[in-house]
Amino acid sequence: MNQTLEIIRNRKSVRVYEDTPIPETSKEMIIQAAMRAPTAGNLMLYSILDITDPAIKERLAITCDHQPFIAKAPLVLLFLADWQRWYDCFLASGVPEFCREKGTSMRAPREGDLFLACCDALVAAQNAVIAAESLGIGSCYIGDIMENFEIHRELLDLPEYVFPIAMLCLGYPTKGQLKRKQTARFDRKYMVFENNYRRLEQDELTQMCKSFSGRTGVGQNVGQQVYMKKFSAGFSHEMNRSVKKMLENWAGELPQQDS
Ligand SMILES: Cc1cc2nc3c(=O)[nH]c(=O)nc-3n(C[C@H](O)[C@H](O)[C@H](O)COP(=O)(O)O)c2cc1C
Repeated sequence: MNQTLEIIRNRKSVRVYEDTPIPETSKEMIIQAAMRAPTAGNLMLYSILDITDPAIKERLAITCDHQPFIAKAPLVLLFLADWQRWYDCFLASGVPEFCREKGTSMRAPREGDLFLACCDALVAAQNAVIAAESLGIGSCYIGDIMENFEIHRELLDLPEYVFPIAMLCLGYPTKGQLKRKQTARFDRKYMVFENNYRRLEQDELTQMCKSFSGRTGVGQNVGQQVYMKKFSAGFSHEMNRSVKKMLENWAGELPQQDS
């Protein structure tokens, strides 16, 4: 076991933070680590919003499924899948005219492009998590940033080809958080297969559920509880509505200027 593996093995999400601010040098190291992550074609298809305005944090604490700890996090980094920068660069570089000369039309970013940019943004975010961890700074992802697209677009000036895929809350963990037990993971036999995917049998699913550690709710077994608490919860419906709306930008017709 080396130091890096040790950090990865001991990490857990941190949702309660000491008031201690994150030193600028640490913030910079975290951001630099994110930016050294692999990126598709070295295109750097993401942007990072450093949310410093307390009023915006307060708003996000509400719009991201009412999670007050967001407002209390000393550092909030929002990872955006971003094709806008390249798209604007294409326009500024005369790509529409160039395409016209070649007898084609310039295309707009689409679903596959979005997925690639999401990969870039998430890979960068995870680098930030591990870098922070190495500095004694805990973190927690906020997937609910994909909800309330219309509000977030306005709040954060998000243009058409930018998609908020993950937010990170970071801060020094309280003693309570340091002591908190790690969550368990499923046994690797349920998750790692050789060459071909294998769907699990009924008895394997039952066994697997016994080891699930997560917040459960109403229901007679883990399957029913997770369905109700996560898959069919209000936040999940809102996330699906919001993402579908965001996707309209990426699945629509070609822009006027390209036709
Ligand atoms: C994509 C993603 C979205 C998440 N969204 C939230 C969230 O909105 N709120 C929260 O408290 N935790 C969130 N988490 C943290 C998970 O709940 C946490 O990783 C999981 O329970 C396992 O616990 P651990 O990270 O301590 O191992 C998210 C994690 C990921 C990877």
